[in-house]
Amino acid sequence: MKKTLLNLSESDIELDVTFQAFTDLNFILNTDGKIIDYASRPFLSHILPEKVVDQKIQDLLPPHLTEKINNALLSAQQTGYVNTLEYNLSISGQEFWFDARLVPISDTKMIFTARDVTKCKETENRLKRQMRQLSALRSIDLAIASGLDLTLLLSLMLDQVSGLLQIDAASVLLWNPKTNLLEFTADRGFRSKSLQYTRLKLGEGYAGRVALHRKMLSIPDLRDNHGEFDRSPLFHNEGFVTYYGVPLMAKGRVLGVLELFHRSLLHPDADWLDFLGMIAGQAAIAIDNAMLFKEVQRSNFELSLAYDATIEGLSRALDLRDRETEEHTKRVTDTTVKLATRLGVDASEIVHIRRGAILHDIGKVAIPDRILFKPGPLADDEWKIMRRHPSIAVELLSPVSYLIPALDIPHWHHEKWDGTGYPDRLAGEEIPFPARMFALVDVYDALTSDRPYRSAWSKNDTIHYIKSQSGKHFDPRLVPEFLDLVNGNHH
Ligand code: C2E
Ligand code: SIN
Ligand code: SIN
Ligand code: FE
Ligand code: FE
Repeated sequence: MKKTLLNLSESDIELDVTFQAFTDLNFILNTDGKIIDYASRPFLSHILPEKVVDQKIQDLLPPHLTEKINNALLSAQQTGYVNTLEYNLSISGQEFWFDARLVPISDTKMIFTARDVTKCKETENRLKRQMRQLSALRSIDLAIASGLDLTLLLSLMLDQVSGLLQIDAASVLLWNPKTNLLEFTADRGFRSKSLQYTRLKLGEGYAGRVALHRKMLSIPDLRDNHGEFDRSPLFHNEGFVTYYGVPLMAKGRVLGVLELFHRSLLHPDADWLDFLGMIAGQAAIAIDNAMLFKEVQRSNFELSLAYDATIEGLSRALDLRDRETEEHTKRVTDTTVKLATRLGVDASEIVHIRRGAILHDIGKVAIPDRILFKPGPLADDEWKIMRRHPSIAVELLSPVSYLIPALDIPHWHHEKWDGTGYPDRLAGEEIPFPARMFALVDVYDALTSDRPYRSAWSKNDTIHYIKSQSGKHFDPRLVPEFLDLVNGNHH
């Protein structure tokens, strides 16, 4: 039997047909929500009670919607416009979403039409979830690109993982090739610190099995697996029910295991498992990158040790001629590094400053003994030779590429602020900053030391001299900083 909407007059038959054409659940209501008549698709009929007419629409829906519906009724009534509301219902254990419209048709009647938008809503939620997952992956990507410390990076990843996968706890165990053990590296959500000491052999424990078989392991209900975690008694107190272990693999090698723990049963869907897979892939890349980075850093460090050994060897060539030079070199290098640090020079730059200071007078290897060790003042032609020592240093050192950034000091330590120095008569800030700093340190140390041509000056005389040369020989802004350092004053 065809169900008609309302007790229709002949002239309203078109309206009835129109309603039948829609797939929605349709009610005709009076202004306070009482149902006058309704029409619905057969598949929705089962959610309606036997007797619908004369009931209030508010009473057919859960109480928490009553106020929402009353407001919509009132608003539709007052404005004469369509009002919409969205709500969800649990029908025989399943979640449905409805999009409802209230359309006033007269002073006393309105249409309430409810559309099942569960499918749309599911798609929407799924899209939202995927967006969140994508942005999580993106933030992990960014963290990888920023060369973040591995432990920090893994903690960040575990934050994202436990949030998005809605799990209570997670950890990462990394394979240590030196010990042949899986070692606990990062965690989130554990009540006790007990698992931080977890070290597993390949094949041992859940994580060990995951690493050995290179396959995800899931234990839906740990309560059925007695004895597995017996080695860590505190694990018991965590109250975990569900376990997932995923191998972290890059370039065909197992780098570690990502473990997820939940304190109740989990019902993961395909999306959840997909995302877990993506996260594990991403984490493996991150770990692989971080390890490579560490490796490069380590070999750079070793290389740098080799460089410094070479530099010290070079500098010793000079020391061999003059024991005094060795001590001078040590002192000026030490003081220059201190001054640079005090002035806020970056550590990466100080490496070169230090090397430059050690090598500052290396050019003197080419100066004949009769000039270098002359017990009195130099003659003009001797000065000409002596003044070549900075250029000789550049000739000696510039073929060594890693020393190029260290050349400022050997090249320009005899330039003067007022432009009367050598070899290039640079003035003011034309003189590289390291060389300006170094000039102060070098002259101070030279004057306070015995030389073949004179004996050492007192500290007071030397300080007095340095001050008198401020703005002449020395950068006037650096003089007070240097004197503070010499006098042991702190900022
Ligand atoms: P150095 O002995 O290491 O001195 C470095 C710089 O300290 C000198 O650069 C100069 O600016 C300052 N200095 C050192 N001693 C004195 C001094 O007695 N009086 C003053 N006012 N400043 C001093 P400079 O002058 O370009 O000399 C470069 C290098 O030439 C010196 O290195 C030293 O090896 C040599 N030299 C300089 N003067 C003489 C000298 O009279 N006799 C000899 N044999 N060598 C000299
Ligand atoms: C694991 O996290 O898989 C190790 C726990 C254990 O077996 O003790
Ligand atoms: C610095 O203060 O770090 C160096 C600046 C400069 O080269 O002048
Ligand atoms: Fe010099
Ligand atoms: Fe010197």
